[in-house]
Amino acid sequence: MSAVRLQLREDGSLRHFLTIEGLDRALLERILDTAESFVSVHAQAVKKVPLLRGKTVVNLFFEPSTRTRTTFELAAKRLSADVLNLNIAQSATTKGESLLDTLRNIEAMFCDMFVVRHADSGAAHFIAHHVAPHVSVLNAGDGRHAHPTQAMLDMFTIRRHKGDFNRLRVAIVGDILHSRVARSQIHALNILGTHEVRVIAPKTLLPADVEQLGVHVFHDLEQGLEEVDVIIMLRLQKERMQGGLIPSEHEFFQLYGLTPERLRRARPDAIVMHPGPANRGVEIDSRVADGPQSVILEQVSNGIAVRMAVMSLIMGGGEAA
Ligand code: NCD
Repeated sequence: MSAVRLQLREDGSLRHFLTIEGLDRALLERILDTAESFVSVHAQAVKKVPLLRGKTVVNLFFEPSTRTRTTFELAAKRLSADVLNLNIAQSATTKGESLLDTLRNIEAMFCDMFVVRHADSGAAHFIAHHVAPHVSVLNAGDGRHAHPTQAMLDMFTIRRHKGDFNRLRVAIVGDILHSRVARSQIHALNILGTHEVRVIAPKTLLPADVEQLGVHVFHDLEQGLEEVDVIIMLRLQKERMQGGLIPSEHEFFQLYGLTPERLRRARPDAIVMHPGPANRGVEIDSRVADGPQSVILEQVSNGIAVRMAVMSLIMGGGEAA
């Protein structure tokens, strides 16, 4: 079954959250609106709501992660769930246990939700296909394929600063080829009706079919930044490169690094985003990453409310209040 169909129940509600592709605008807006209702929970003296009380969430991370894993953990705890963190890279699969065996064992511990990060595209889909009927799967990043909660926290951050998507020009800059974040962002931006989505990158860092995703391609950074409201910088994913795609980090920064001078090409009120971890001096100048137009740390904070929203919608829950 396709990931698109697998993730929805018959009544159209979310069962799993595997990919943004194929979801409709109303559902994405529901996630954003629900997240809005959770923002205030962080400011309460007791930072908890009981929506997932009695439920168990397992973070199954087959790849390292800091931001994503910790914000998923905080989100689940703020919803009053019990949380287990399993770092599989150092655990059963290295002892030769198969992925399905690992799953069956964790299921036998009566868990309700798996948050999965894996280096292979399609891993979360595979797991969702095999779990027991009462278990939901959230994709926390699979290979180069998708990272739907990251895209939604980015949409949430954009909406908070800029309002309506249909007037916005958004540019995604850098290593699009290896980026599951970019793919999910492009789908989300288009579904939400963004006026124009641009990608700015050298040919070697773009997937062959990128235009079919509904973007305008630029190879020149300064040209691509003209009139832009939102700039999303991406990390150069050196660990996924087989060599030869860029001449050197220094040269990449010369051509595609976001400096304060280049930022002036965009609209004066443009915001600068980065999913993290950022390579300072490779794709972004520290003066921009730490500057007044940067919302990079807000993205991290917003990750908690957005992940709370997705988990509570999956569990059939609603808003905070
Ligand atoms: C991203 C990821 O892991 O896909 N980071 C994240 O989730 N915050 C992007 C990256 O690793 O560059």
